[in-house]
Amino acid sequence: MAQVYAAKYLAKAALSAPRDFVRAAVANYTPLHPTVFIFHCTFVCDARCEMCSNWTRGNRKEDMTLEQIDRAFSSPLWKDIENASLSGGEPTTRNDMVDICRVMIDRFPKLRKLTLNTTGITHHRAIPMLTKVVELCHERNIIFSTRVSIDGVNDMHGEVRNVKNAFEKAGKTIAAMQELQKTYRFNFGISSTIFQKNLDDAENILAWARKEKLDIVFNMVRFTDAMLGNADLEGKYRPMGVEEQRMRKFFLDRVRQDPLLDGQNYIYMHYADMIANGYHRMAPCPFQTQGIMLNPNGDLFFCENSDIVGNVTKEDPEAIYFREASQAHRRHIRDEKCPTCLSPCQMNVAAIKQVVPYARFLVRASLEKRRPGSQTALPVPPPLPSPSAPAAGADL
Ligand SMILES: C[S@@+](CC[C@H](N)C(=O)[O-])C[C@H]1O[C@@H](n2cnc3c(N)ncnc32)[C@H](O)[C@@H]1O
Ligand code: SF4
Ligand code: SF4
Repeated sequence: MAQVYAAKYLAKAALSAPRDFVRAAVANYTPLHPTVFIFHCTFVCDARCEMCSNWTRGNRKEDMTLEQIDRAFSSPLWKDIENASLSGGEPTTRNDMVDICRVMIDRFPKLRKLTLNTTGITHHRAIPMLTKVVELCHERNIIFSTRVSIDGVNDMHGEVRNVKNAFEKAGKTIAAMQELQKTYRFNFGISSTIFQKNLDDAENILAWARKEKLDIVFNMVRFTDAMLGNADLEGKYRPMGVEEQRMRKFFLDRVRQDPLLDGQNYIYMHYADMIANGYHRMAPCPFQTQGIMLNPNGDLFFCENSDIVGNVTKEDPEAIYFREASQAHRRHIRDEKCPTCLSPCQMNVAAIKQVVPYARFLVRASLEKRRPGSQTALPVPPPLPSPSAPAAGADL
């Protein structure tokens, strides 16, 4: 499965390379319309996760209505969007979630892929909604990719999410999606955020996912007020010292043991590299030049380290995006935040669009794999000296 994905991935890279090369060059001189987009359609949530504080800022009254969303998406700003993610908060808490997906498909003429992460906990809502989005994307020839978040096996998941029986509840959505895959083609799997609390469970989650034949992606915990409202949790939940090295080992083991062309390995190598080098980013990020994010109340911002640059219920999104003050803020992010930013958001998109960094990764990953004993787990390395650069995500 991973090999098929990777073959498609490389084929896409080769096909779009000339156009993307030109776009990347042009982006150095003039701002371009965005191609990647994350929409937090609500911060209302059906969980109260330990490592994310979006649930604390849920306020249905502040969420844009479907009409406001449709009006905002009628702007020419969105004409080049190729990858859109619906996030939150918990998207399935909105009764009109399927309509929001339809509006995005209608209003984004170049949309290729729609992504959605869900807790899957409120399964009686999530299952019919996801089924409708799968059908919609099938009809409209859009790639749909959805993941249920699972942060531990059995009780650990409930402890992370602060929801009783969360693992069993999410399991119902997982089973329904696996069943639906027998009828429709769409990407489905689970997503797991690893932090200080569930680090010990990471191998368990992996073993369980393999047993259940579930595609899995692991996220390394990040702390960002703009996207997760959780900068204050860093002191509590960022793995430090030996724990941080265990986290690095976990990600490096994935690179060593998983198929070379597995789409996630690029991101796992990035995590391992950043821990090892004191959080100096070497990987590209599409949000530097072609990403945009939107909050439930219409606040527009460039990425998880960006300030709000305007509100789409009050002004035309294209005018907000291209005005000099916004672009000056983007240059500030590039100079001040990018060098130490851990974000993996849509990094695979960047890899497709920037062939050279991906080719470099393939060489490095192959070298890792050839190291003696690479097919077995690494011994835990001794702790590195404290990084002199800002801590993981400290300034994310
Ligand atoms: C913010 S949630 C929104 C969607 C949905 N509520 C969910 O939990 O899947 C999107 C993804 O971010 C992940 N996430 C939460 N807190 C995180 C953190 N501190 N660092 C990195 N990823 C995190 C979640 O596990 C989830 O997979
Ligand atoms: S990770 Fe998802 S479910 Fe958990 S609090 Fe954040 S938005 Fe809600
Ligand atoms: S600060 Fe991070 S998320 Fe934002 S553009 Fe830079 S690397 Fe990407």
